[in-house]
Amino acid sequence: MTDSAVPQKRFLHTAIPGPRSAELHKRKLAAVSPGVSVSLPVYIERAGGGILVDVDGNQLIDFGSGIAVTTVGNAAPRVVARVQQQVAEFTHTCFMINPYLGYLEVCEALNELTPGDFEKRSALFNSGAEAVENAVKIARHYTGRQAVVAFDHAYHGRTNLAMALTAKNMPYKHRFGPFASEIYRVPMAYPFRWPTGPDNCAEECFANFVELVHAQVGEENTAAVLLEPIQGEGGFIVPAPGFVKRVADWCAEQGILFIADEIQTGFCRTGNWFACEFEDVTPDLITTAKGIAGGLPLSGVTGRAEVMDAIHASGLGGTYGGNPVACAAALGAIETMRAENLANRARQLEALFLPRLRRLAEQYPQIGDVRGRGAMLAIELVAGADDKTPNAALAGRVNAACHAQGLVTLTAGTYGNVFRFLPPLSIGDELVLEGLDILDQAFASAV
Ligand SMILES: Cc1ncc(COP(=O)(O)O)c(C=O)c1O
Repeated sequence: MTDSAVPQKRFLHTAIPGPRSAELHKRKLAAVSPGVSVSLPVYIERAGGGILVDVDGNQLIDFGSGIAVTTVGNAAPRVVARVQQQVAEFTHTCFMINPYLGYLEVCEALNELTPGDFEKRSALFNSGAEAVENAVKIARHYTGRQAVVAFDHAYHGRTNLAMALTAKNMPYKHRFGPFASEIYRVPMAYPFRWPTGPDNCAEECFANFVELVHAQVGEENTAAVLLEPIQGEGGFIVPAPGFVKRVADWCAEQGILFIADEIQTGFCRTGNWFACEFEDVTPDLITTAKGIAGGLPLSGVTGRAEVMDAIHASGLGGTYGGNPVACAAALGAIETMRAENLANRARQLEALFLPRLRRLAEQYPQIGDVRGRGAMLAIELVAGADDKTPNAALAGRVNAACHAQGLVTLTAGTYGNVFRFLPPLSIGDELVLEGLDILDQAFASAV
């Protein structure tokens, strides 16, 4: 649990949002593009452990971690100490001009922590989308091939190539085309929605994948297959057991690079350093971001040395990639994950959440599926026991009821009907249990 300076108690003394948040939100509407919308207009002043403190003095329980970013908690002490020291020493040189130690140490940590017992290299960037773009650049350059295969329900970011790789139209792609070419989409092994049932899912979906890539793309044209080992924005879809391994093994046979997008699943979130470890899969390239740096913008691509070494000098980089302050934060975050065994904490959180979510599912036939790993869990809401029609309206009502009680929850999913849980791993058990009580009440009022 956390040693945050913020008292670990939920406390509401205004309606949510409170009057000062409402004031600020008026300014937001006047100053900020509406394209950058806000799901809970409660303005935050401080945060730590499992609590967000708003400008009205309300204390909210955080089940979202700013979308899987503050894995070590907000303002985690080791992150704060390293960032403060770094910001006072120097803030930027551009690693491509004058390098510095922090960048090397983050790359060394990535090379050590990511799956694969072989020589690796890393390169650092700013955002998840940028890491994905660079992984694709590297794969195309190394293989001399152009096609990239991505999956239904995938989310890989909002830049042009990342949008092309992302599956969902609204809100991510709608009227933002044309998109980057040579992207091909194949079905995901989504057990809950597999037409012939979850038991057939891995095998049938894999056969489908092989057939589609062969017939529509050509193995010899395919640079990479890009996959989230648990799909994030698409609805916390855990691929049917064995599917990911079959895909990765097949890629290896075809000289196709297997890229794992661990931007949301990485850094202890799922109960291991990386979610691929559950699949017994070693990616050729792996993208990381979010949880890597305790809230500062940093991302990475890590891969086999022979792949990464194929890129010519100055082929990769960017002004800010691997900024020294972000690297200092990452070193503080990784140190925290090691010292506090946060992968284990994610498993403890799973053990707290899952029985309660399953109990809720027994009570409400509108909960069609309970799934996820570690502190990346979800429930999928449907019309009823025998009707899997996505129930986004109920997800929205439950979400609003949680927010009103000071529990910050998030939804997800291609159909907007998935309720997802991503608490910071610094949250204490009492707050989790209190949050789950609020969820119970939210269902009781919203169903
Ligand atoms: C799996 C995955 N890939 C890529 C991204 C894009 O990351 P960013 O928002 O930092 O560009 C995200 C963000 O949610 C993600 O979950």
